[in-house]
Amino acid sequence: MKKWVALFVVILIIGTIFSGTLAEIKARGKLIIGTEPTFPPFEYVSENNEIVGFDIDIAQRIADELGVKLEIQNLPFDSLIPALMSDKIDLIVAGMTITEKRAKVIDFSIPYFNANQAIVVRGDEDFKPVKLDDLKGKKVAVQLGTTGDLVVSDIKEIKVTRFQKFTDAFLELENKRVDAVVLDEAVANAYVKTFPKFIISAVIDTGEKYGIGVKKGNKELLDFVNSVLSNMFKSPYDLLVEKWFEETK
Ligand code: ARG
Repeated sequence: MKKWVALFVVILIIGTIFSGTLAEIKARGKLIIGTEPTFPPFEYVSENNEIVGFDIDIAQRIADELGVKLEIQNLPFDSLIPALMSDKIDLIVAGMTITEKRAKVIDFSIPYFNANQAIVVRGDEDFKPVKLDDLKGKKVAVQLGTTGDLVVSDIKEIKVTRFQKFTDAFLELENKRVDAVVLDEAVANAYVKTFPKFIISAVIDTGEKYGIGVKKGNKELLDFVNSVLSNMFKSPYDLLVEKWFEETK
């Protein structure tokens, strides 16, 4: 009996040590990423009911380089960090901004996209805020736990409503229950393109950079993700320079 208990404990320990390592991901045959797919064109649900987008293509590339399948877990944005910390997912690929606070609890890859916040309003109305302060006394919808949530919550005169899904935040704007939505500019562009009744009235220069989230201390996976990203950044020209000059050193 004792033997079995000991064996069980050993398996448990090995399981925790190896969880999320490259060896474990390869052995299980799939890379599990977490994302929140109301964030076009980074991640959104397509007409075929599939999660697609820029981030998903990056994640697919990482999975391909590992020689495994890609599994996507659809989670609320504010659940992504807890899911990563508790080993439910291997990576967060969700247009997540690298912030000091987040970097205390998870590691981030090298930056892969620059972003700013945008204010979106209904086009057919006079209210055209050009800066965050113009939102004072107004109702603003954001996605819970995002950097957009942070910038508007910093101004106490703004009445903030927080949603799990950006699609619900825009529904609220459409139904005139809020006066504006604040979110990442590239995503605001995508929504405005699909719903021309909305317009971007201002872009707030927040100077954000997106990174892929990796569990704190999982250096092996972090290095791997960084190498895939840096290879993607290389142009055919860069690759030639590397081939003919740097590699012959
Ligand atoms: N970049 C913003 C942040 O990190 C918003 C990201 C939202 N991403 C998403 N997939 N819903 O807070």
